[in-house]
Amino acid sequence: MKLTIIGTGYVGLSTGTCFADMGHTVCCYDYDQNKIDRLNNNERVIFEPYLFEMIESNKNDYRLGFTSSLDEAIDADIFFICVGTPSSEDGSANLEYVIEAAKQLGKNAKRDFTVVNKSTVPIGTGDLVKETISEELRKRDSSIKFGVISNPEFLKQGSAVNDFLRPDRIVVGYETEEAKEQMIELYRSFTLHHHKIIFMSIRSAEMTKYVSNSMLATKISFMNEISNICELLKADVEDVRRGVGSDERIGYSFTYPGCGYGGSCFPKDVEALIYLAEQNGFDPQILKSVKQRNFNQKKLLFKKLSKSLNNEVKDKSIAVWGLSFKPETDDMREAPSITLVKEIIEAGGTVKAYDPAAMEVSRKYFDKEVYDNGSLELVGNPYTAAENADALVLVTEWKVFRNPDFALLKSLMKKPVIIDGRNQYTRTNMENQGFVYEGMGK
Ligand SMILES: NC(=O)c1ccc[n+]([C@@H]2O[C@H](COP(=O)([O-])OP(=O)(O)OC[C@H]3O[C@@H](n4cnc5c(N)ncnc54)[C@H](O)[C@@H]3O)[C@@H](O)[C@H]2O)c1
Repeated sequence: MKLTIIGTGYVGLSTGTCFADMGHTVCCYDYDQNKIDRLNNNERVIFEPYLFEMIESNKNDYRLGFTSSLDEAIDADIFFICVGTPSSEDGSANLEYVIEAAKQLGKNAKRDFTVVNKSTVPIGTGDLVKETISEELRKRDSSIKFGVISNPEFLKQGSAVNDFLRPDRIVVGYETEEAKEQMIELYRSFTLHHHKIIFMSIRSAEMTKYVSNSMLATKISFMNEISNICELLKADVEDVRRGVGSDERIGYSFTYPGCGYGGSCFPKDVEALIYLAEQNGFDPQILKSVKQRNFNQKKLLFKKLSKSLNNEVKDKSIAVWGLSFKPETDDMREAPSITLVKEIIEAGGTVKAYDPAAMEVSRKYFDKEVYDNGSLELVGNPYTAAENADALVLVTEWKVFRNPDFALLKSLMKKPVIIDGRNQYTRTNMENQGFVYEGMGK
């Protein structure tokens, strides 16, 4: 089967590469010429562990190619739509890229095909894609037949390759038996050990993705709320987390308190589900609280920082460790670091920041002015960030920040103050080493 991936971002690039690695012939299409040129020059357009080694080997074996030419991309049996679905101003998912992709297919397809939607989309988008393609085919009097599938993606940035190759489950929303059989065949090599495909209607598959992300976001916001209550009641949320997570009905995953969730998925998907519920006359109280808690949680780091500096952030130099929304990615969409850095600068402080992967990406998240006037400086390693700092804030729990040389750190900082937004350190250890320490919920 010849596959074309439409949209070569985090999801498209991982999807295309992993299918190629399973022996399929894959064309990754993106209308971003610069991205395609860079991929054809073997450049690493995103930070994603193991992905680029796989891209190289599959390119060398002629199973994987990159193009910005629709003429080349259109020669396929199955098309995967992997374009972005960002939030619109009103919170709804912006479907312009999905519709554009569907139009491109309807206008240009040369033979019967299947279109598989991997983008996270509102319930009913499968019908919209179908209507859009049909309309374009009608305009050119074409008798080409096509099927629509919903196959939401559950990979996590930072472990995309492993998640794709070894998925917990593969959700497939379908209408016809023919399309269902095609999906079974396509994913055969991923399901050799045990059957992992869960079949359902297209609408249920679309809903499943929103519910997964909203459930995970709810767990995070719930634990963040508990963490704030623990602080007031002088309980240690880390002990509470262990005590609670040991109940197998609850489990440990996504029970880590922190400074809020970010990324391209949880914030926009919670937002989109709120919108969908409200549009249908339902008040989604839990989802709205999840969103609000996360908004407040992102602001907590600055509050803790400010308090530890006696509310005098002006003219203070703050070291920030970690900019990406989570470790092992360069993605900064909706990252808590953005909120923190902006608040420090607004309060008249300056920031020296270090991140193992997001330094280049971070440039587009802050005004050029803050770099030009020295309010924000990106530095080459964690210790340089700490030089003469009045406080250090750990925002993203990259491994490199787990066991720093605390003696060196203390000798470099003007004041030994650490705000630990991810509970990577223990208060006793920090205080024994002479630091003023503030964690989350401790
Ligand atoms: N990032 C994740 O971890 C993740 C995980 C699961 C699902 N998703 C969902 O997958 C979708 C894609 O997310 P992403 O993070 O990969 O997005 P992204 O922004 O990284 O990539 C989207 C790509 O699509 C391209 N594009 C847009 N319209 C196009 C068109 N008509 N023709 C060709 N190319 C086009 C863009 O140039 C861009 O390169 C979203 O709906 C997202 O919610 C993302």
